[in-house]
Amino acid sequence: MTLPASTPVKGGGALGDLEREGVPRHVAIIMDGNGRWATSRGMSRSEGHRAGTENVRRAIEAFAQEGVEYLTLYAFSTENWARPSEEVEALISLIHEVIGPESENLHDMGVRIRHIGSLGRLSDELRCAIEESVELTENNDRLTLCVAFNYGARAEILEAVRRIVREGVDAESVDEQTFAARLHTAGVPDPDLIIRTAGEMRLSNFLLWQSAYAEFYSTPVLWPDFDSVEVGKAIEAYRRRRRKFGRLDG
Ligand code: FPP
Repeated sequence: MTLPASTPVKGGGALGDLEREGVPRHVAIIMDGNGRWATSRGMSRSEGHRAGTENVRRAIEAFAQEGVEYLTLYAFSTENWARPSEEVEALISLIHEVIGPESENLHDMGVRIRHIGSLGRLSDELRCAIEESVELTENNDRLTLCVAFNYGARAEILEAVRRIVREGVDAESVDEQTFAARLHTAGVPDPDLIIRTAGEMRLSNFLLWQSAYAEFYSTPVLWPDFDSVEVGKAIEAYRRRRRKFGRLDG
């Protein structure tokens, strides 16, 4: 038996089933290469992050046009705090600067914003800005954007374990649903496609539980250059995959 190239998506949003066929329902992206993009142009790494941030809106629109329902972007990992303080401060203040105006734009585009990760260690102002963007957009349904900010998958898994223990859940009753419901991504389907730009091929503590059967796509294109043509190439590569979910046929 031959399985379909990729899982067809049913319902939701403005596109019908026909247009969506073979389109990943959930795409997650490790946006890499901002620094290399900048240094190859004689610019500072912070300018690379600004160019990467400007590309975020274009990418969201391109994925929405393709019929993707969930997009997760790895904006800042728990490990990124270990970068030089100047770069950390530049990244955090960049995100703080754009979150307000971008939330309004995304709201107009029908995008719902979710945050995954920890709000601890962030300033009160930034925490409030993130919470406001989530509240503003909570009723939108064109595309759900999960912003992984101050996110680390191991920390997320440990937090879920602590919650299960604290709630006194019977050990024998703990199954995959019990566990997934306590992750930051509760209610979000697992990613079908994980994209990493700038040629790297590692997960870097991103969605470790959720990516069990995700297809992986790596491209040498640097994140600020990952435009709608590249989005189309990634979706096309996904369409050609045979997803087997551990079975023999395919
Ligand atoms: C990796 O490039 C990129 C990051 C650590 C940050 C990604 C963040 C953004 C694009 C900011 C905006 C996000 C949102 C959702 C508003 P790198 O610095 O590791 O590049 P390099 O490997 O070439 O040095």
